[in-house]
Amino acid sequence: MQIFGSDIETMAYSAKYISKIADIIDINMGCPAPKVVKNGDGSKLLTDLPKAKAIMQAVVENSTVPVTLKIRKGWDKENIVAVEIAKIAEEVGISAITVHGRTRTEFYSGHADLDIIKKVKENVNIPVIGNGDIIDEESAQKMFEYTNVDGIMIGRGSFGNPWIFAQIRHYLETGNKKDKPSNAQKLEVIKKHIELAVEEKGEIAIKELRKHIAWYTKNMKNSSEFRAKINQIESKEELLENINEYFKSL
Ligand SMILES: Cc1cc2nc3c(=O)[nH]c(=O)nc-3n(C[C@H](O)[C@H](O)[C@H](O)COP(=O)(O)O)c2cc1C
Repeated sequence: MQIFGSDIETMAYSAKYISKIADIIDINMGCPAPKVVKNGDGSKLLTDLPKAKAIMQAVVENSTVPVTLKIRKGWDKENIVAVEIAKIAEEVGISAITVHGRTRTEFYSGHADLDIIKKVKENVNIPVIGNGDIIDEESAQKMFEYTNVDGIMIGRGSFGNPWIFAQIRHYLETGNKKDKPSNAQKLEVIKKHIELAVEEKGEIAIKELRKHIAWYTKNMKNSSEFRAKINQIESKEELLENINEYFKSL
């Protein structure tokens, strides 16, 4: 489970509380969202390393499970702190660190910087997880080979493609690429995704699912027409009906 915040007492309380249910607690010091950084949370902590250290210490001391840290490389290009904060993390007992190779001011623009991830890896002994722009087998392999990281994390590359994890694992282990999922496999996973989302959030999930269905069907035959239809739908039954119909038409 991941937590974010800059109030030390609250973070300590959260650590104690979620230790009971989580396998690992990850502290998010990478989030660039304005509503988060305006409270001094997320990536804003990259501008205040003493505070970041105090938070890590409070969470580690109050947790009974391993604590990990997620960061960006710094706030902006004048303030690249990834190596410094990784060393602090190691010193206070953080178990692993994930580095997204962008600054906060970059948000998601440009390319993730693999050099800074490599540098972090060279400077600490805890496991380092490389993150940013891994979208396929080749970019995953490049992250491992160029930076020597212990693991990788995939974000946007999994949108509409939850198979990416198995695809990459297979490639790294065998050097061969797995077949892309068939339409039938895609349909099965989309339906399961819908069931799980509605089970968890209720029918309100349907609106949120629109973007996922758009990602799943990207580049498929007549998919823009299909998406336009889906974007008007508000009920699960109607959504499933339209999806079945679309896949039948392929
Ligand atoms: C819609 C969205 C939501 C995200 N939410 C989180 C989050 O809650 N916690 C977190 O650590 N990172 C979050 N991230 C950042 C990703 O974990 C990752 O660091 C970033 O997207 C770069 O990796 P990628 O190029 O593989 O997407 C989010 C990213 C996106 C696009």
